[in-house]
Amino acid sequence: MARGTSEIPVVLKYELYESSVQNHMADIEFIEEEFKTLRGRKPRTLREDFGGTGAMACDWVKQHKDNLSWAVDLDPEPIKYGKENHYTRLNKEEAGRVKYIQGNVLDKYDFDPDVVVAFNFSYFCFKRREDLLKYFKKVRKALKKDGVFFVDIFGGTECYQEMVEETEFDKHSYFWDCDSYNPLTNDVLYYIHFESKGMKYEKVFVYDWRHWTVREITELMEEAGFSKVITYWEGEDDDGEGDGDFYQSKEEENCESWVTYIVGLV
Ligand SMILES: C[S@@+](CC[C@H](N)C(=O)[O-])C[C@H]1O[C@@H](n2cnc3c(N)ncnc32)[C@H](O)[C@@H]1O
Repeated sequence: MARGTSEIPVVLKYELYESSVQNHMADIEFIEEEFKTLRGRKPRTLREDFGGTGAMACDWVKQHKDNLSWAVDLDPEPIKYGKENHYTRLNKEEAGRVKYIQGNVLDKYDFDPDVVVAFNFSYFCFKRREDLLKYFKKVRKALKKDGVFFVDIFGGTECYQEMVEETEFDKHSYFWDCDSYNPLTNDVLYYIHFESKGMKYEKVFVYDWRHWTVREITELMEEAGFSKVITYWEGEDDDGEGDGDFYQSKEEENCESWVTYIVGLV
């Protein structure tokens, strides 16, 4: 039981966030394998859009001596945390191959990566169709000729229910709070709360999003000029839980809650 509520210290904020929601090594493995299958070569350069702390960009350069990465985010706070806590984990040579950019994902940059990722559903911040289309067009233009765009997406019968879901970890609890869902606009408001060492930290992250569907994203990527868009689904283990293996698929049964990938090929 929490003793009280308080403003969360910045370092704790990102430590708790990353240990609760991120699994970017699994994302990196998926990107490497799928890119090789789709393009017949290994990807070497990655732009992490909405990169926050740039944790993925830092791990990307550790995978291979020729890997380069760029992490793009508007907010200086997670960038500062990332530079102090992820960038410093790299040796000098690795650190020379990753760059943090405090900037807008809509801006034009002077590099053309093999891969652009927009993970943790961050592109849901673009609520209007024309804004998301504009972003997808810019990503397509930024990518190499055989580049690939990876996004994740979530859904299921539970995702519009106004409820708080608690996940317990060894030393803290993470709360995913669906505060509201507007059936007329698909606007959703989510909060992340944490409980750690007897303290409750409320509304540490706030997401005022549009909940897009897989079909809408597929059609928007096609409209943005991606030559092929592929949807994936996660396999199941013997207990009916997700097994972490994603395969290409076009038809599946809905369930309470799912997360999957959509991939656009230039
Ligand atoms: C949900 S967080 C995702 C952080 C990280 N990618 C992850 O997987 O955990 C969304 C991030 O997007 C950033 N952001 C929102 N709009 C942006 C934009 N137009 N350009 C760049 N970053 C943006 C925010 O500052 C925030 O750090």
